[in-house]
Amino acid sequence: MTVVEAVQGDITTQQVDAIVNAANSSLLGGGGVDGAIHAAAGPELLEECRALRAGRWRDGLPVGEAVATGAGRLPARWVIHTVGPNRHAGQTDPALLASCFTRSLDVAAQVGARSVAFPAVSAGVYGWEAEEVASVAVSAVRDWVSSDPDSLEVVRFVLFGETVFSAFDAELS
Ligand code: APR
Repeated sequence: MTVVEAVQGDITTQQVDAIVNAANSSLLGGGGVDGAIHAAAGPELLEECRALRAGRWRDGLPVGEAVATGAGRLPARWVIHTVGPNRHAGQTDPALLASCFTRSLDVAAQVGARSVAFPAVSAGVYGWEAEEVASVAVSAVRDWVSSDPDSLEVVRFVLFGETVFSAFDAELS
């Protein structure tokens, strides 16, 4: 049975098979967790992302989609990049946010990851409330795990700061 948990911390230090990046459609880096992951992974991560943009994701990664790359110098083996809905751009459909979590878990299972760490996608620059992200994320992950209980051992939400952690902890208890 897959363990679904929440911890406070920095996702770049997580000892898991795959960490999920709250990217933007360009896949070419940014601030927030995207910036932290690229900084910790090193330049080869950006090179892999550039290759994705030269190939299948020529027009960028759509909101709600997910794609895996290597993880450079990070402890994880894979980075799974997903693009959350941006409330400031009018992207307020919770199904788009749920898709970030379910597509990332699909990709994790496809590459063979057994443990996955998620940040609070869209809860930063993209302006979604922590409580809503927690509610959408936890139910999306729980639904996915109930439909495929054997693919993953651990799904861990890794939250920056007390407010976001409390929102996820409340959803999980
Ligand atoms: N570990 C875990 N969580 C982190 C870390 C980290 N090292 N750094 C930031 N966070 C948290 C933020 O505090 C927030 O709660 O991740 C959550 C998501 O915030 P953002 O990184 O701003 O992501 P998002 O809201 O999805 O906006 C994505 O921001 O950084 C740019 O390139 C990115 O354009 C994209 C946009």
